[in-house]
Amino acid sequence: MKQKVEALKKEIVAYIASSEQELEDFRMKFISRKSVIGDLFLEMKNIPAEEKKEAGKLLNELKNLAQDKFKELIDGFNSQQGDSKIPEGLDLTLPAVKDTIGAEHPLNRVKARIIEIFERIGFNLSEGPEIEDDWHNFSALNFPENHPAREMQDTFFIEKNPDIALRTHTSSVQVRVMENQKPPIRTLSPGRVYRNEAISARAHCVFHQVEGLYIDKNVSFADLKQTMLHFAQEFFGKGTKIRLRPSYFPFTEPSAELDIYWGLKNETDYRITKGTGWLEIGGCGMVDPNVLQSSGIDPEEYTGFAFGMGIERMAMLKYQINDLRLFTENDIRFLKQFVSL
Ligand code: PHE
Repeated sequence: MKQKVEALKKEIVAYIASSEQELEDFRMKFISRKSVIGDLFLEMKNIPAEEKKEAGKLLNELKNLAQDKFKELIDGFNSQQGDSKIPEGLDLTLPAVKDTIGAEHPLNRVKARIIEIFERIGFNLSEGPEIEDDWHNFSALNFPENHPAREMQDTFFIEKNPDIALRTHTSSVQVRVMENQKPPIRTLSPGRVYRNEAISARAHCVFHQVEGLYIDKNVSFADLKQTMLHFAQEFFGKGTKIRLRPSYFPFTEPSAELDIYWGLKNETDYRITKGTGWLEIGGCGMVDPNVLQSSGIDPEEYTGFAFGMGIERMAMLKYQINDLRLFTENDIRFLKQFVSL
């Protein structure tokens, strides 16, 4: 008996079940009523009385061992099954997909750099909705009732409600800031804007702007010019020269276009600067008193300046990109070419 028990013990310990059938074989052989262990229990009646106690103990140990092992086999079998369940349609013989590392979008790099330059001189960030009402996008910014910018060819309106449009510039955010904060205000609003333009190498219906607003007592045109010069030299390089050309925006008076001196080093420079060497990088001006008034700021007490520039345009100049459409094509070969500014 003792020998039989020892042999069975060894067999139980070494048992491996890798299929349901093998699991069932184990159950039949060692656990079920008709198992070998059951048979041994039946044999107990033939054992001399003085050995019964010892034999009973051995058999009970064997029975427990078999039950523990059975549990272990079931657990192992279940987890193995879980791992190896192959979803339908998955072909494990196919070569693995190569991991590729993405790249930060050049527009994000340029935006981050512009923000960094202005944050260092005390500007904070503000955001506003891309779906705007007429008041924040136009009326509060002193656009006359029938200004061409309001017309269908420029602005995406909501058909059911002509009061709602996709914002055409981030100046709308500045109105919101002025309505909600007391001067001094120094804020930068980067964001996506929309205009109803045919998509080409030079125009897109969705693009990005950064606009800045500075309102306080005694803010002058000289402050505007110095701030623009500081920005241009930080962004384009120390020696960069700027000029301000008179212009018109409904929300600023006086208004100007901001140009930087790009130079005429090669043929491309002649082409992009139209032979002048100067390149326009944005618009700016002193905030019109009507705009301050509309937003609840007293124009007798406060003055301010605003400026705006296109992020795509800045990126195209900085990285010498000649087609606006590349920004939205998401071609990794394009996106990977840019380093931090
Ligand atoms: N909002 C103007 C635009 O989209 C840019 C601008 C901003 C001009 C602030 C002057 C002052 O064209």
